[in-house]
Amino acid sequence: MAEDDSDETYRDERARFYDATLPDADRPDVGFYVDLARETDQPVLEATCGTGRIYLDLLAAGVDADGFDRSRDALAVLRETAAKRDLEPSVWQADLASFETERRYGLVTCPFNAIQNLTAVDAQLSALRSVHDALVPGGRFVFDVFVPNFDIICEDYGQWQSKDIDYRGETHQLRSRTLIADEVEQLFTVETELYDADGSLVFTEEEHLAMLPKRQLELLARLSPFESFSATGDFTDEPLSDGHSIQVWSLRKGDE
Ligand SMILES: C[S@@+](CC[C@H](N)C(=O)[O-])C[C@H]1O[C@@H](n2cnc3c(N)ncnc32)[C@H](O)[C@@H]1O
Repeated sequence: MAEDDSDETYRDERARFYDATLPDADRPDVGFYVDLARETDQPVLEATCGTGRIYLDLLAAGVDADGFDRSRDALAVLRETAAKRDLEPSVWQADLASFETERRYGLVTCPFNAIQNLTAVDAQLSALRSVHDALVPGGRFVFDVFVPNFDIICEDYGQWQSKDIDYRGETHQLRSRTLIADEVEQLFTVETELYDADGSLVFTEEEHLAMLPKRQLELLARLSPFESFSATGDFTDEPLSDGHSIQVWSLRKGDE
């Protein structure tokens, strides 16, 4: 498939910078998704694989894994890192909202809030249909998104957060803030700016995302072609409940 550059986020230096922020991510998701993929005795697809933070560990663990992402530049970073790690990636550019695959998978994943990039209900449902088509009968779609936390929204949204970060051997300043873009539609915008040691702007980016509280995901799952669904909290086996900060959803395709 020909690659285009119509994606708006994770471009150029922003895509390269993504990996520099990973040590701060402090998320147990890599081990979670690698274990899940290893238990699946069938091919695995990571939708929105980005720069390969999780995808490359799937390959390193011997999983037969494919991946796709909308960002051509993130995929270029993934391929460079794969070459350094002597791994052979099978990734391509595609849109989560409407993709088709040649293979069928036992597991499709979409880690780290990426499904929140789909801000329209039609696009969210279309993505669920695309994933369903990509799965074998009995296959599972597993993804995670954050629980919208009222304290964080009230206290932090609108405020610039700033921190120093080591990038390309120099201290850079990362500034970011999250803004409510539309209260009725529950949409928000994340603005990110990176400045080099001289104070020059390296990149600026605006990402538009949707809040996906549990009830909305439950309604989407009910409207989707999936046969059954469940949600756990914080990458544990506990059913999702008040106090968890991450929703981990598993949607199962029926046996045909
Ligand atoms: C937070 S990153 C997650 C990347 C990777 N899965 C990880 O966990 O590190 C979100 C990714 O979603 C991708 N993305 C956003 N919207 C997308 C869409 N509509 N279709 C495909 N990829 C998309 C971005 O390019 C980015 O690589």
